[in-house]
Amino acid sequence: MREEADRLLQWFYGHARILPWREDKDPYRVWVSEIMLQQTRVEAVIPYFNRFMKELPTLKELACCEEGPLLKLWEGLGYYNRVRNMQKAAIQMMEVYEGNFPTTRSELMKLKGIGSYTAGAIASIAFNQQEPAVDGNVLRVWMRVHDDFDDIAKQTTKTKVEQEIMNWIPVDFPGDFTQAIMELGATVCVPKGEPKCPICPLVNFCKAKQNDHVNQIPVKTKAKPRKIQARTIIVVQKGNRVLLKKRENKGLLAGLYEFINEEGQLEEKEVIEKIKELGLNPIRISPMGEEKHIFSHIEWHMVGYLIKIDETQEDKGFLFADVDQLDKQYAIPSAYVAYRKQIRRKLE
Ligand code: ADE
Repeated sequence: MREEADRLLQWFYGHARILPWREDKDPYRVWVSEIMLQQTRVEAVIPYFNRFMKELPTLKELACCEEGPLLKLWEGLGYYNRVRNMQKAAIQMMEVYEGNFPTTRSELMKLKGIGSYTAGAIASIAFNQQEPAVDGNVLRVWMRVHDDFDDIAKQTTKTKVEQEIMNWIPVDFPGDFTQAIMELGATVCVPKGEPKCPICPLVNFCKAKQNDHVNQIPVKTKAKPRKIQARTIIVVQKGNRVLLKKRENKGLLAGLYEFINEEGQLEEKEVIEKIKELGLNPIRISPMGEEKHIFSHIEWHMVGYLIKIDETQEDKGFLFADVDQLDKQYAIPSAYVAYRKQIRRKLE
């Protein structure tokens, strides 16, 4: 085994954090955790992971889960297409692989939502195959150790590192190696603040350290700035129920429930007009203030209003949800959370 890999493994065995997905090497658990961890921090993922495993402990249960409860389980993690794709992949595995995970990287990559990184993580951690799993943490470690100034935002750099790292992956412990190098990136060779070089098991091999380049590497070109969209959120209240709309089954936030919302930041008068156009009869309007929500490529700059309508009025085909059920039954995008919390406070 290469000396670098040996040092890394010894360090990992002594310092690995205790995390629920490390309790065993069940590919289902590895997969779910890796998908959750793609956009969310470890500490934030833990409760979601535990709840998901309790509700849907196997591929079969994931494949058969109704959309509503599935999205509800994901509520708060965002990027809902991740869980939709997971369900599609689970169905693929039920239909094509008799409910099992395929064990090779190339077959794993045929499944919906499983790319190079996730396939490498499952193949190495769950099936002990010599396969690379290169995420942001691994890239940072690798580029620093090799004093490499290439741009880690580029696919060519990721592909290069996937090839180079093969020389380090030990035949006997590929899964531990994958987790060890990720762990080093997450806890020692950190992205923000000073990396903890004095306690790093690779410090003597680190060329960036030797050349005093640690704070300049990795190089990452900036993504385009996010588009800013102004929106008006209108919560229509009828007694202790509020109006919800279901979004279309495709596009941003597909299939989730939301309050009425309009492009632009509207004035009270315009909001009242909109509500009347829907055939509803507003009796009071109160402002709910401004809120911001950041998606990966878009920012919503929102203004919210609560509109009370006549309780004796018919529902006119709209869905009115009990405020008590808002939290329990409907998956509502995180973008609306601030307004949802206000409703509860106002009606309590
Ligand atoms: N980040 C990505 N995958 C991880 C894992 N398996 N454990 C901890 N952090 C991670």
